[in-house]
Parts: sequence; structure tokens; C-alpha cells
Amino acid sequence: MKPFATIVLVMCIYLSGSDSAGLYEKSVIFPTETDNSFVRLNAPHFTSLTAFTVCFRAATEATRSYSLLSYATSASYNELLIWQENKTELWLYLGSYVDRFYVPEMNSLLRHICVSWESKGGEITVWVNGRRSVRKVGGKGRVVRGSGQFLLGQEQDSVGGSFDIKQSFVGEITDVNMWDRVLKPNEIELISQGCYSDGGNIIDWGSTTFTTGGNVIIKDNNYCTF
Ligand SMILES: *[C@@H]1O[C@H](CO)[C@@H](O)[C@H](O)[C@H]1NC(C)=O
Repeated sequence: MKPFATIVLVMCIYLSGSDSAGLYEKSVIFPTETDNSFVRLNAPHFTSLTAFTVCFRAATEATRSYSLLSYATSASYNELLIWQENKTELWLYLGSYVDRFYVPEMNSLLRHICVSWESKGGEITVWVNGRRSVRKVGGKGRVVRGSGQFLLGQEQDSVGGSFDIKQSFVGEITDVNMWDRVLKPNEIELISQGCYSDGGNIIDWGSTTFTTGGNVIIKDNNYCTF
């Protein structure tokens, strides 16, 4: 392709939508408690999922409960919800509440969290900084329906809205990736250490387009700077 054609093509890609391209090596920071700050991750369309792994890094000094990742569909506002309850409990919703995991107290230090689930056996596993939890069983036979919205920073009580300030996230989140399968332990270990180039096939932090609302700061995460 000629350089001029390349420039025109690149311009067209950037001008074609109001959403921004991915958040490669960026963090999103929610500096204050609000009922309108969010980052929507515009994942590609999928029909439904019978398995997933979702991973991210998060740090917060919040002591109350809040949403870490909220995925709402018109069928269920808690289609997939990763909820932190009072610093030490991580709750999983798949349409409705499924189970809780006791985790080390949330604090100012970025930690790497993964949650994986598969429908057939209902096996749920949580990983914190590459360390695996006890395996639990829940949500057997369920699916995660498509055509929903993925939000960071707020918990949805309608698709893309009806936020509650007391359920909002205050702190920093980065490296959100989601796969339509259960990752292997060695993959999770690698990802938890950072600097792993492959993003998820449902959410890819490096390329999934995103939309922000309210008071969100985007900064280099400096995670992979040696
Ligand atoms: C979390 O804290 C709130 C407020 O103190 C309390 O009402 C709630 O029962 C706590 N949740 C759990 C699971 O202990």
C-alpha cells in the first residue's frame, strides 16, 4: 500500500467513531466516588458464553462494597458481576448471586485478580496474584448471554445506567482481559506477572474500544517498565 493510502485509511479508522481504541499500558483511575463515572468496554458481539476467564489488576482503599466488573444484559442486570464485598469477599453473580470467595484484604497495592467459570461442571476458580483459590461449583448449566454492556466503575441496574454512588468503584484498574474459555494455570501465572502480550478474545485491554463518562483519569500504568 502506498504511504498516502495508508494515511487516508488510518485517518478513516480514527474518524469513524467517537470511541477510542484500546488501553494498552494504560490504567483507568476513578479518583472520587460518583454515580456517573464509568469506562464502558465495547466487546465484540458474542451470542452466549459457556465458559470464561476474566482478569484485571485493581487497587482501592475503599472499605465499603463495590462493583469490580459489571456486565448487564436486558435479561439480567447482573448477567456477570464481579462484586467486592467489604474488603475481603469477592462475590460472583451469573444472572443472580452464585458464590463468594474470601480473599486477602483489598488495599492500595495493585493486585491481579482472575475469575474463571465453565457451565458444564460449574467449576469456579478465583486467582489472586497468580495464586489459585479453592475450586467451587456454581452456575452449572447457565450461560452468559451476549449483547450486553461491560462497565468498570459502576454497577448497572439497567443496561448502561441506573448507577448507585454507594456501589461505585474508587481507585485504579488496568489490564482487563476476558477470554471465552478457562485459562490454564500456567497461563494465569504468566498473565499475573504482567508483560504478557496476548489479550483476551472477548475483552482485549490493548485493542477493545472504550467509552468513558464522568470523572475518569487515564494514565500510563508503568506496569511493564523495566
Ligand atoms: C458488609 O458491611 C455492611 C456494612 O457494615 C454490612 O451491613 C454487611 O452485612 C457486610 N457484609 C458481610 C457479608 O459481612
